[in-house]
Amino acid sequence: MLKGKTILITGGGSGIGEALVKNLSPENQIVICGRNQDKLKKVASANKNVSYYPVDLSVPEEIDHLFKQLSGNKIVLDVLFNNAGVVEQYNISKTGLSSAEIFQRINTNLSGGIAMTRHFISQANKSTENYIVNITSEIALFPVPILALYASSKAGFSVFTKVLRQQLRNTNFKVIEVLPPQIETDMPKQIGNSAKGVNADDFAKKIISTVNSGKVELANGPNVPLLKLLSKFFPDLGLRLIDKMSRKQLQVQ
Ligand SMILES: NC(=O)c1ccc[n+]([C@@H]2O[C@H](COP(=O)([O-])OP(=O)(O)OC[C@H]3O[C@@H](n4cnc5c(N)ncnc54)[C@H](OP(=O)(O)O)[C@@H]3O)[C@@H](O)[C@H]2O)c1
Repeated sequence: MLKGKTILITGGGSGIGEALVKNLSPENQIVICGRNQDKLKKVASANKNVSYYPVDLSVPEEIDHLFKQLSGNKIVLDVLFNNAGVVEQYNISKTGLSSAEIFQRINTNLSGGIAMTRHFISQANKSTENYIVNITSEIALFPVPILALYASSKAGFSVFTKVLRQQLRNTNFKVIEVLPPQIETDMPKQIGNSAKGVNADDFAKKIISTVNSGKVELANGPNVPLLKLLSKFFPDLGLRLIDKMSRKQLQVQ
């Protein structure tokens, strides 16, 4: 139950993370992190019981430093939301990202979350029930080719979530995966998607009730049955179909 807990939310300065803060802070102690200090500060002052730590999750030393700071400040966590993420269109022969920029994107969505989880497990207050809530994406069910780095890293994080659940079976740690459909935050706009999505506050409430009900997955978007069907029975046709539909929706040349 998410009540009376100390909860770390990555990417808590905006979007789904900020909506989680708003809904959880009245009854819990919240720690948020992200790169943009101004955004974090604003969320911390608009909600009670919130402290913030600027951290770039794509940089391993910054993650290590965060956990040193938390233990120095006697903050012992019960819950981790691996929520931070980045998305952009990526075509390997056309998009001019350097190797370092490719690493940065994948580290944010995948390696950063794994490193955060490793620290959390060793640092957490094990006298209570602990939750690790990983926000992946519906894209983990079936890849969108034009979002190549996002799709690859989210599918990887989804696999990590499943193996983590198995490795932590019979421990205090409960592992939950959230696969959001399109949510109304800045993220879809960043890739040119202006279609209407789910309200972030409503979705945060769904995440919280999923955790509180003991379920291990939230995948309730309208596209989920189709994505699962394509993945299982029509993977090649599905790739062509999803590529065509997403290029049209995101107005890719
Ligand atoms: N919105 C959707 O339609 C949708 C759909 C499926 C999945 N999701 C997933 O939901 C999660 C939250 O996304 P959102 O929609 O709330 O978008 P958002 O408002 O853009 O939030 C993303 C957050 O991640 C943080 N972040 C990005 N790079 C970071 C880095 N290197 N280090 C630390 N923090 C970093 C950002 O903060 P800074 O910029 O300050 O670092 C930001 O607060 C993401 O994992 C996303 O993939 C969203």
